[in-house]
Amino acid sequence: MKKKRIAVFASGSGSNAERIFEYFKNHNQVEVALLLCNKSTAGVLERAKKFSIPTFTFSRQEFYNSHLVLTTLKDQQIDVVVLAGFMWLVPAYLVEAFPDKIVNIHPALLPKFGGKGMYGMHVHEAVKAAAEKETGITIHLVNQQYDEGSILAQFSCKIDPNNSAEEIAKRVLKLEHENYAKVIENLVLNQV
Ligand code: GAR
Repeated sequence: MKKKRIAVFASGSGSNAERIFEYFKNHNQVEVALLLCNKSTAGVLERAKKFSIPTFTFSRQEFYNSHLVLTTLKDQQIDVVVLAGFMWLVPAYLVEAFPDKIVNIHPALLPKFGGKGMYGMHVHEAVKAAAEKETGITIHLVNQQYDEGSILAQFSCKIDPNNSAEEIAKRVLKLEHENYAKVIENLVLNQV
């Protein structure tokens, strides 16, 4: 049977993307077919090269005012889109082209600490400022609002007021690395 084809979108370092590349490297039903990135200097591009995964970079103008990215995904026969540290809002034309087939990871327990401006360290700083006793990750489907699509899975960890935002970030990233690829696998194999 033909393998299901994933496209990963990332904007930065790409440590989650790399875990996903690793997880599906020798998978017999799923493959990472393409890495898409909005920043030509992003570390994730080197990580993709290491795994011989083709890359495609695009500008803001191309993403929001053309269908270049969609055409690329269709040409590559992509089944599922995975956002792994991708910081731009996904435009309507893409959400409509991949209904319930775009998945995102958010570094907090949504609906808390989500929405516009809540990404990366901003999230962990807000969690610390609110003196939360736990935080975690949310893996969810993408719709046209930041962080509001249906939740597929959440994983939490305890924190305490002495933890710095950096310590919180480290714990959360570990949870992401441990869980994201498995949830993606489950989505791809059971719902696509
Ligand atoms: C991850 O913690 C991810 O949850 C977060 O960016 C980080 C990327 O790290 N995403 C968001 O904040 C999306 N709103 P990585 O590049 O090392 O995978």
